[in-house]
Amino acid sequence: MMEKPIYILAIESSCDDTSAAVICNDEIRSNCIANQKIHAEYGGVVPELASRAHQQNIVPVVQQAIQKANIDKKDLNAIAFTRGPGLMGSLLVGTSFAKSLALSLNIPLLDINHMQGHVLAHFIKEEGCEKPPFPFLCLTISGGHTQIVKVEDYFKMTVLGETIDDAVGEAFDKSAKILNLPYPGGPLIDKYAKQGNPKAFQFTKPRVGPLDFSFSGLKTAFLYFIQKQEKENPKFIEENLFDICASIQDTIVSILMDKLKNAVKETGIKHVAIAGGVSANSEIRKRLKETENKYNWTTYIPKFEYTTDNAGMIAIAGYYKYLEAQYSHAGVAANPRLKVDEVAG
Ligand code: KG4
Ligand code: ZN
Repeated sequence: MMEKPIYILAIESSCDDTSAAVICNDEIRSNCIANQKIHAEYGGVVPELASRAHQQNIVPVVQQAIQKANIDKKDLNAIAFTRGPGLMGSLLVGTSFAKSLALSLNIPLLDINHMQGHVLAHFIKEEGCEKPPFPFLCLTISGGHTQIVKVEDYFKMTVLGETIDDAVGEAFDKSAKILNLPYPGGPLIDKYAKQGNPKAFQFTKPRVGPLDFSFSGLKTAFLYFIQKQEKENPKFIEENLFDICASIQDTIVSILMDKLKNAVKETGIKHVAIAGGVSANSEIRKRLKETENKYNWTTYIPKFEYTTDNAGMIAIAGYYKYLEAQYSHAGVAANPRLKVDEVAG
C-alpha cells in the first residue's frame, strides 16, 4: 500500500522577507516570498519596519502558498516555523502566527533553527541535485552569519569556525554602500565584478584562527582605500567600478575558500556544501566547482532559489523533524540568538 504523503506548511520571518512554503514529503510544492522593499531607502534592514511589514504580509503569503500548492488547509500534517536566530520583532510575527494556526487546525508545530534550515536546503528533492552524505562540511554564508559547520546528521551540527565580527554578507553590503550602491549590494557587486579585473587592487586578508573569519578590518581598509583614491581622483569609483567590485569580491571569496581548505584538511571530510544568501554568489560557486577536480572534493551547491532566506528550507527541516516526531511544546518562544548546534524546542 502507498504511504500517505506528508504535507507541511512552513513560515520564515527571521529578517526582512516574509515567506511561506508547502512541502509534500521532500518535494517543494510552493515557496512564496514577499520581499520588503522599504529597507532599501535606509541602506539596511530597519527592525521596526520589518515587523510591521511581516504583519501585513503574512496572511496573504500563507494563502498564496497554500493555493499554489493546490491543497486545502485540512490536508496539512504540521506547521513549521523559524524560531531563531533573527530579529525578535520579525520572529514574533511568524512564531505567533504558526502557533495559532497549528492550534486551530489541531496539528503539531515544528520549531526550526534558521541556520539549520539553510544547511538542510540541500535535502530538498530536485532533479540533478544530489543530497550530501553525512558527515559533510557546510559553509553557511549570509547577511547575519559566516560559519563552517560539520553536519553529522539532520539535526547534529557542530560549528568548527565562525566570524568574530561582521558576517560575509555584511562585508559585501557595506563595501557596496561605500561604492554608493543600493542595499543589499551583494548581488550588484557580483554582477559588476563579472566585467572587472579581480587583481586590479589588492586588499590584505585578516589574520585570525585557521577556521575563523573576520571582515570588519577589511571593510575599514576598503573604506580608507576608496577615500584615499577619491582624494586624488574624485571620479575614481565611477571610472573603476568593475575592477573595484571584482577585486573586493576576489579577496572575500579567497578568504572563504582558504578557510574551507583548512577545514577539509583538519577534518578529512571532502564532501563540501555551501548555503545561505552569499552562496548565490557566482564567484564562490565557480571556485568551489574548480576544487572538485583539483582537490578531489565533492561539492554541493544549492539551487539559486533556496540560497537566500525562504520558507522552503524551513519546510524541509520541518519534514525531517516531523519524521522524528520532534514536535514543539505549547510554550515554545522565538529566540533571536539561537545557535546552530542548539537543540530547538
Ligand atoms: O541568507 P540571506 O538571504 O539572509 C540572512 O539570513 O542574512 O542572505 C542575505 C545576504 C545579503 O548580505 C546579500 O547581499 C547577500 O546575501 N547576497 C549576495 C549575493 N546574493 C545575496 N552576496 C554576494 N553575491 C550574491 N550574488
Ligand atoms: Zn538566512
